Amino acid sequence: MIIDWPALRSAAADVAGRAYAPYSRLRVGAAGLTADGRVVTGCNVENASFGLTLCAECGLVSALHATPPPARDGTGGAPSGAPGTPETPQTAAPVLVAVAVVAGDGAPLLPCGRCRQLLLEAGGAALLVDTTAGPVPLGDLLPAAFAAPDLSARRDA
Ligand code: THU
Repeated sequence: MIIDWPALRSAAADVAGRAYAPYSRLRVGAAGLTADGRVVTGCNVENASFGLTLCAECGLVSALHATPPPARDGTGGAPSGAPGTPETPQTAAPVLVAVAVVAGDGAPLLPCGRCRQLLLEAGGAALLVDTTAGPVPLGDLLPAAFAAPDLSARRDA
């Protein structure tokens, strides 16, 4: 799959312009490419109760799950009754293959630790993350990560 990094960065910069960051004044935008070719975005949303702040990547991951997959005929959203609609809830999670996160200045911003963990569940260790040095696999940014298999392997029977 060809990844148009400039387009992804540009989508992230666009959405950074819609960030709500009156407290830190650091606008952040995130754009992700899905395995089925969609681009999903998110921006940071702060709150007077600072700890409630949503990072841009949180919005992106929410959009990833909230956006319907493309219709097979390429006309837009999935038709009523198709997988992923309220009638037949989507069971397979959508997958991210590439992510660009930028600050308001348009330059790449490395995802915080919490967001690396969020992105891991949305794209796995092979998810490519844009950096100033070029794309790097998320596994390099979050080595030895805790993930879903640790739950099934270690929880009480
Ligand atoms: N922020 C993000 O949106 N993503 C990150 O990965 C790092 C931090 C936001 C949260 C907060 O609104 C602002 O940047 C300052 O921390």
